[in-house]
Amino acid sequence: MHDESARLEIPEPSQLRGPFPPYQRPAELLSYSLDEDRHIQFDDRELSCYYPPPLGSCLFDRMATYKTRDLTVNEHLDNLLTSLVHAKREKSLPSIGRPRFLTFRGILTKILCLPYNSREGWELGATLYKGTIHLEEHMTEDRLDRERALPQHVRRLMYSGYRFETVSTLDFDPRELQGRDDPRISARYDKDTNNLSEFNCVFKTKLGDHSILMGAEIDCVCYGMEKEGRGERYLELKTSTLINSPSSRESFEKHKLLRYYIQSFLAGIPQIHVGFRDPRGVLRAIRSFKTAEIPRLVRNKNYWDPSVCFRFADRFLTWLTEVITVDDPHTSYTIRYDPATRTVTASFAGPSGAFLIPDYVEEFET
Ligand code: A3P
Ligand code: MG
Ligand code: MG
Repeated sequence: MHDESARLEIPEPSQLRGPFPPYQRPAELLSYSLDEDRHIQFDDRELSCYYPPPLGSCLFDRMATYKTRDLTVNEHLDNLLTSLVHAKREKSLPSIGRPRFLTFRGILTKILCLPYNSREGWELGATLYKGTIHLEEHMTEDRLDRERALPQHVRRLMYSGYRFETVSTLDFDPRELQGRDDPRISARYDKDTNNLSEFNCVFKTKLGDHSILMGAEIDCVCYGMEKEGRGERYLELKTSTLINSPSSRESFEKHKLLRYYIQSFLAGIPQIHVGFRDPRGVLRAIRSFKTAEIPRLVRNKNYWDPSVCFRFADRFLTWLTEVITVDDPHTSYTIRYDPATRTVTASFAGPSGAFLIPDYVEEFET
């Protein structure tokens, strides 16, 4: 496809039912950190360890010191690509061949949730290079406007998610603690919260016939920092409104559990800890979910079906391989989802919007 655009209509979930397509267990290839200045560090310095906070902590506290990312700065896939370049130069990159897709887990989550998303539009940039389709997310003017218009109470809810991470983790192994009175436990509450620093892993997986390299931010690990068996101890942290009515339960199971499940299953994160806060932000309960068991919790409710998401994503990725055909690191395509018409369009954007960094283009030429 070169000058015209291609369209894909999103089928209804009922048209997508069927067996779960093969999804390979994600294998961790490498990890890296982003520090508070968003500088990449080729180590695990930003990995933290779960240590439960006492119920009763207020997750709205200290919001005045919250440091946030500048949403107008598009980081593209720069850090992910840089981590691959670094590993390749260091000769520590396991053989990856030419994966069919290279992207972030957040983008795959958006694709998988499409059959159940009739509200939120999005836009991606795609570049085909050496047989690999690289997908990045675009911060459109529309989305920036929406973010800027967010009311304070919504910003506070978003803050509480990061605050929960701050007060639920230690930046050292909890086995080093000198008992339950160790002052480092309560020192967590005096820490500022930010959404800048991150620990990321790069996973290799496969959906149907599509091999995928995927970057994913990992919230923390439980029971110690050692690398041995770490993948089974990665933990996703979430916050949610306390469930106190049939409608709040339905909203949690219908919308939140779908996203939690897809996000964690994609990266093979086995467990999710959800902190439930009351309207004043006070942490009232923490519930742990085994990722693999989430679909069973909603099975008979007709809310969503994980095989619908994975079958759709398999088709969607096939469609992308059919429409993204110009293999050139200096050009890109724009992929746009319009919830009003429930269609995705792909159009060739030429040199505008090309986003692969020169080091990556050079290093992965052969
Ligand atoms: P919670 O979802 O825990 O409340 P993640 O859970 O993926 O590690 O993200 C941490 C926090 O970032 C979330 O906290 C939420 O506040 C915010 N966040 C993540 N994805 C978001 C999205 N698509 N829209 C708005 N906020 C988001
Ligand atoms: Mg996270
Ligand atoms: Mg989280």
